[in-house]
Amino acid sequence: ISLKSYNTFGIDATAAYFIEIRTVAELQELLTHSIYKAMPKLILGGGSNLLFTQDFDGLVIKIAIEGIEKINEDAQHVYVQAGAGVVWHQLVLYCIEHAYAGIENLSLIPGTVGAAPMQNIGAYGVEIKEIFDRLEAVHIDTGNIRVFTNEECQFGYRESIFKKELKGQYVITRVTFRLGKVPAFNTSYGAIQDTLKQMNVENLTLRSVSDAVIYIRRSKLPDPAEIGNAGSFFKNPEIPTKQYENLKIHYPQMPGYVTSDKTVKVPAGWLIEQSGWKGKRLGDTGVHKNQALVLVNYGNAKGNEIKALAEEVQKSVLAKFDIQLQPEVNFI
Ligand code: EPU
Repeated sequence: ISLKSYNTFGIDATAAYFIEIRTVAELQELLTHSIYKAMPKLILGGGSNLLFTQDFDGLVIKIAIEGIEKINEDAQHVYVQAGAGVVWHQLVLYCIEHAYAGIENLSLIPGTVGAAPMQNIGAYGVEIKEIFDRLEAVHIDTGNIRVFTNEECQFGYRESIFKKELKGQYVITRVTFRLGKVPAFNTSYGAIQDTLKQMNVENLTLRSVSDAVIYIRRSKLPDPAEIGNAGSFFKNPEIPTKQYENLKIHYPQMPGYVTSDKTVKVPAGWLIEQSGWKGKRLGDTGVHKNQALVLVNYGNAKGNEIKALAEEVQKSVLAKFDIQLQPEVNFI
């Protein structure tokens, strides 16, 4: 079957086998079934963080486990559990409607609840790890269920244990979030403050912060329904402070955020723009005109063409700044 409508890049790759899973029991049955055991498997959420560079000669398992419910509360928090197949932004909207705080900055991020912890999604000053309580996952080989606490997930910048030691070993089925009963607004991100001002917001609400984030995202990031893309294609690199200081001499405008006493994080979008790539188009592939960190498919680009463009971008940035960009998107 064609996977074109199952990946936001809109790459026309195929899967040998494809199945949609609605319950944990179904998933366990599938994973332990003798026919499927030996097949290579690809677990699919919203398909918003991957690039198919070839057809997938195995079983694609689309996780469609639904449901959002409040399962617990204490004096300050509510605990909300969501199925891995829930669309991320639907969960955000549910929390805003119920006045559950902490998730509003993560508005409009493409993808599903189950995929979100994999790479500790983050935007506008908040990462999922700040509201993450625990998750349930099914072991791919045994079908056994295991619970992972926040600590056990080993969250880092766009990282978790599921991208490292446990890569390819678990399917996330449900995630529980710990949200605040009283909002603690995070408007540290400059663009949020500017947008709230433009919107004439005087009293912050979960909704107004969410609206500001949505406004910013819509103005910078292409809508995958119109132009294929997978959000940020690269991670923002962390470089040694020494290197940053040296580069600053040549490029006084270079932005950077101190991440430790030895490292500075530099926006990859800036590096790519300075390397002359912003808004460039090669065939049906391109570098987005409003946000150079986003590579796009204008129509019928092949995964390998996007990959080739990404390599050219990496080469330019390496040559100009001596910084090696790492992809944020998963290559399949
Ligand atoms: N910049 C440029 N040119 C560009 C793009 C960015 O010069 O074309 C510079 C500007 O200095 C700007 C700075 O980069 O101030 C930061 O840009 P932006 O606020 O757009 O954020 P980002 O660092 O490029 C990261 C995340 C995004 C997230 C935003 C907002 C990563 C890899 N990306 O992007 O996440 O939405 O911050 O918090 O960390 C995603 O992961 O798919 C994603 C969209």
